[in-house]
This record gives sequence, structure tokens and C-alpha cells, in this order.
Amino acid sequence: MNVQRLIAVRDRNRPVGVEVHTSMQLPLRRATRRLATPPPEPAQIEELHEELARLRAQLADRDREAAQRELQLRASYEATVRALADAVEARDAYTARHAERVAAYGLEIARACGIDTSESADLEFGFLLHDIGKIGISDTILYKPGRLTNQERDAMRRHPVIGDDIVRGIDFLAGARQVVRSHHERWDGAGYPDRLAGERIPLAARVFAVADTFDALTSDRPYRAAASFTEARHVIANAAGSQFDPTVAAAFDDISDARFDAIRVALA
Ligand SMILES: [Fe+2]
Repeated sequence: MNVQRLIAVRDRNRPVGVEVHTSMQLPLRRATRRLATPPPEPAQIEELHEELARLRAQLADRDREAAQRELQLRASYEATVRALADAVEARDAYTARHAERVAAYGLEIARACGIDTSESADLEFGFLLHDIGKIGISDTILYKPGRLTNQERDAMRRHPVIGDDIVRGIDFLAGARQVVRSHHERWDGAGYPDRLAGERIPLAARVFAVADTFDALTSDRPYRAAASFTEARHVIANAAGSQFDPTVAAAFDDISDARFDAIRVALA
């Protein structure tokens, strides 16, 4: 068939009237089918409503199950972290429940700094595990009653780095690492291990530093009695801007003695 005949056959078969673009053909066919379909019976509509209600109930069940699983997972993470923190403290009879109190004081100070502590357990895990690196310090150094030699002091000062190495590979402790590694940094840059200064120190570690000192000062030690809250507040205020972030120190000072006392009594 030559080209002229081909064109003639095509033109003969083309329908007369408005040409419909191919992209519109499918929706038009569907609409035509819908018009041809009779409206659903009330019983069918009722069935559809019931099916929808069933699906909604299933979705709600799944949401509840997911929330429940998340709670269980968080509880098991928390139990693991507490067991690890207890393992660290078991080596030092004088710091019993120190990590738990520091965690509670720290969360109180964090909230006073405007940090939302309800969403994630990272802060609490960091506070509880801050000294996990002490697992890697020898008993001779850890329990030495007198002054440490320079070499021993250097070995002791490795505990934040050892701790960082321990928690590094554990996904759910990623947020806690900041406190584990940086809890001995100082606002003026004279701390360790990285000699970070000012806001380069993670906020969680700056909050921890105040909580840790407050608990150390207000706890009995074999060589001295516990300081009063007022004395501890003075020490912390005097070190604001050198050892401590002044903003965190001020937020700490706004918390009442009654709040701190409730924690101390609960975790004595
Ligand atoms: Fe430490």
C-alpha cells in the first residue's frame, strides 16, 4: 500500500467530531462507567462504614502495640544502663548511689536550663554512665589512699576516653557519649581530655559538671562531712565562669533547696 492510500484509509476511519486526547481517554471511560453504575444500596453503604470502622480499630490496635513495644524497649535499655552504672559504683563503696543522685540532680538542672528531658533518655543515660571508663582503671590507682603521682593522675584522666571507647559502638548510647567523654571539661578550657572551652563543651556535659560537684560536696566522705546546700551553692557560684558554664550555674541556683532535698532523701 502506498503512502497516499494509507493516509486515505486513516482519514476514512477517523471519527467525526471533537478529537479526544489520549491522556483523557482513561478518566473519561471511568467516569462513563461510574455514570452507568447504579448508586450503592443503603446496606452496601452500611457495610462499607463497618469495614472502615474495623480498619480504624485495627490501626489503633497496632499503634497501641507499637507504643507498648517502645516502652518495653526503653525499660530494658534503662535496666541495662542501671546495671552498668551499678557495676561501676560497686568498685567504690564511698560513691554509693552517686550516679543515680547526679542523674536526678542533672535532670532537674537541665529542665531549669530549658532542656526538654521528656523526649529522650540520652541525658539520663549519660549522667548514669559518666564514669563507666573507670572500669578500665587499675584498682591500685582507683583505691590509692594518698596523692596520685603525675603518671597515676594521667592514667586516671584517661577514664573519659576509655568510657567513650566502651559506649562508642552502642547505638542507643550515642547521645550519652557526650557526657561520658566530656564530663571533666571546664568552661575555661583547663579540663580534660580534649581541653574544650565554653560552648564547645556539649551542654549535657556542662549541666553534668554542676550536678556532679553539687553531689560530691553534699555527700559525706571518709575524710570530711557533707557540706550544706548553702555552702555548696557558694562553691558553685564562685566557680561560675571558670569551672562551670555561668548560665547553667545560674539555672542551678534558681532551683529550691526543697527540690534538691527531696532527691537526696529519696536516693540516700
Ligand atoms: Fe569522671
